[in-house]
Amino acid sequence: DTDLKGKDLLGMCDLSKSEIAEIIKFARLIKRIRTYGGDFTPLKGKTLGMIFQKPSTRTRVSFEVAMWQLGGYALFLNKNDLQLGRGETLEDTARVLSRYLDGIVIRAYSHEDVKILAKYADVPVINGLSDFEHPCQVLADFLTILEKKNALAGLKLAFIGDGANNMANSLIFGCAKMGINLAIGAPKGYQPEPEVLEKAFFHAKSNNSLIVVTEDPKEAAMDADVIYTDVWTSMGQEAEESERKKTFSGYQVNEELLRAAKPDVIVMHCLPAHRGEEITEEVIEGPNSVVFDQAENRLHIQKAILTLLL
Ligand code: CP
Ligand code: NVA
Repeated sequence: DTDLKGKDLLGMCDLSKSEIAEIIKFARLIKRIRTYGGDFTPLKGKTLGMIFQKPSTRTRVSFEVAMWQLGGYALFLNKNDLQLGRGETLEDTARVLSRYLDGIVIRAYSHEDVKILAKYADVPVINGLSDFEHPCQVLADFLTILEKKNALAGLKLAFIGDGANNMANSLIFGCAKMGINLAIGAPKGYQPEPEVLEKAFFHAKSNNSLIVVTEDPKEAAMDADVIYTDVWTSMGQEAEESERKKTFSGYQVNEELLRAAKPDVIVMHCLPAHRGEEITEEVIEGPNSVVFDQAENRLHIQKAILTLLL
């Protein structure tokens, strides 16, 4: 009942529960094929364009390598090297690129740009991070959680930090759809937008997911199966950095916070990390941390996304 072919992937907010499950299931299969030395090249002759308005290590490299391993070809398109950097519109860029490419990844400052590109492109558009969502990351994270905990529904995930950023939003929508209980520990002024919560509550209800927001990070982390954190200052927010450092100083994922969670809690971070800020060196390098498995799974999930959409 899930046919993702030709569709855009703009956010967890637009994916159905069965589409999320399908992408994860397919990624597990593809990962296994590679582990056993098999070849899987369904995208022979296909090309993917990747427009980046801001920096990236994981998203860029995993999509590029995924495309190559699937038999296709990827073009990295830095915004400033395109005519886009000289004022050509996204609308025109979308229609031109659609004549050459089979899919487009975009990393944008504004989610509006992702939507415009999707509206004007005739080929699938994938959100490689915007200020509003980071769906490819959360799909990979759910694959990681499933591998480590053998379940998604019924687990408790605590997100500590900026409850209004792209990671928080994608986790809120994703957890609501997959029946994961979510506690957000975030200071006032950095808690999820009411519209995001409202939209998520609708899905959470039918999937038995409890979503709570608290100012108390310990309360959020209490009995958690997963503790998740992200940078306090996202790309594009650099001017607010010193103010954010002050506001978030009590929201560090450290040994003390981990003691509130279950003993076998896994600690996740989408990376890049700022050790000594949102997470301590001991925790990110400690036995509960799964951050590099998480990063690896970006590759496997991109392959599933690309194969299903293209
Ligand atoms: N997690 C993530 O998307 O990393 P990059 O910014 O390096 O792509
Ligand atoms: N919230 C971070 C995520 C980076 C992958 C940012 O937008 O910079």
